[in-house]
Amino acid sequence: MYTAIDNRYETMPFRRCGKWGLKLPAVSLGLWHNFGGVDVFENGREMLRLAFDLGITHFDLANNYGPPPGSAEENFGKWMKQDFRPYRDELVISTKAGYLMWPGPYGEWGSRKYLLASLDQSLKRMGLDYVDIFYSHRPDTDTPLEETMMALDQAVRSGKALYAGLSNYSAEMTSKAAAILKELGTPCLIHQPKYSMFERWVEGGLLDVLETEGIGCIPFSPLAQGLLTDRYLKGIPDGSRASKSWGFLKPHQVAPALEKVKKLNQLALNRGQSLAQMALAWLLKDKRITSVLIGASSVRQLQDNVETLRNTVFSEEELQIIENILEGNS
Ligand SMILES: NC(=O)c1ccc[n+]([C@@H]2O[C@H](COP(=O)([O-])OP(=O)(O)OC[C@H]3O[C@@H](n4cnc5c(N)ncnc54)[C@H](OP(=O)(O)O)[C@@H]3O)[C@@H](O)[C@H]2O)c1
Repeated sequence: MYTAIDNRYETMPFRRCGKWGLKLPAVSLGLWHNFGGVDVFENGREMLRLAFDLGITHFDLANNYGPPPGSAEENFGKWMKQDFRPYRDELVISTKAGYLMWPGPYGEWGSRKYLLASLDQSLKRMGLDYVDIFYSHRPDTDTPLEETMMALDQAVRSGKALYAGLSNYSAEMTSKAAAILKELGTPCLIHQPKYSMFERWVEGGLLDVLETEGIGCIPFSPLAQGLLTDRYLKGIPDGSRASKSWGFLKPHQVAPALEKVKKLNQLALNRGQSLAQMALAWLLKDKRITSVLIGASSVRQLQDNVETLRNTVFSEEELQIIENILEGNS
């Protein structure tokens, strides 16, 4: 029987999603890898328990997380039942639909047919009456944006989701989608883009749109799937994401990043931080960032990442050194 520790809200800062009332912990936990049917059930459970004890109130899922697809939500349903049922109102649980989930034309992308059926399936797997945030996981140029946004609006109006979110939408599509949602009366709460020191496309317009519209931003893969940590400094360890056949980080992606990783690691050590902590702090220094959406494979990593919050301040000189390293000029 799990009982959350009493002091769980003492240290975690909470930030508002854009202009909206919902606040998220500065660090949130995603269940994309390490919580599926192929993973060790008790390890996932331990991580979720520690996360909540550390003040992480936001768990992010999607219909297809696993592998196999759906198994992360199924496991999460068990953890909810076993450990978190008394804490449902203290949790922000999100899910998404957009990627391939079942065969045929209604099992992926952005139609109303797919999104609403998928949300029902997700709720069933997780044993929930509602999710807090329901995302369109990716834009679909084959479906009118109105249709996808009407499905999000319907999800909220039906009470199966409390808020609507977008993921992987460009700045331009986000503007259009936000305008449609506003007109429908279900505003866009938050955007979930890929954003890290190694992946900075959001700086080319999306962050400005989010600020103007008052939409929150929760970057995913803030550690570039583990590249922006000390995980690969001495090769590819057994059990790491890059070593797993189902991992989305491929072994060939590791070596080209290493030169920059080593320099960033040295700078992090000079700051008295791990590289993971510095990479997360670098995102959190921007007030437009609501929360960083991390992944973890152990309680040690989770603990390490939450300790980021001890130092999220950078000097101008440090920021310049980071720019030079990222641009390959140092
Ligand atoms: N919306 C979307 O399209 C989308 C796409 C991808 C992800 N996401 C969301 O974002 C979440 C996070 O994505 P992600 O897992 O790629 O994030 P990430 O934080 O960039 O990478 C997590 C991985 O980094 C390694 N790691 C984490 N902390 C570490 C530490 N302190 N020291 C050493 N290594 C550390 C671990 O790798 P090992 O497993 O090797 O130990 C861990 O599995 C997902 O769970 C999901 O919720 C959303």
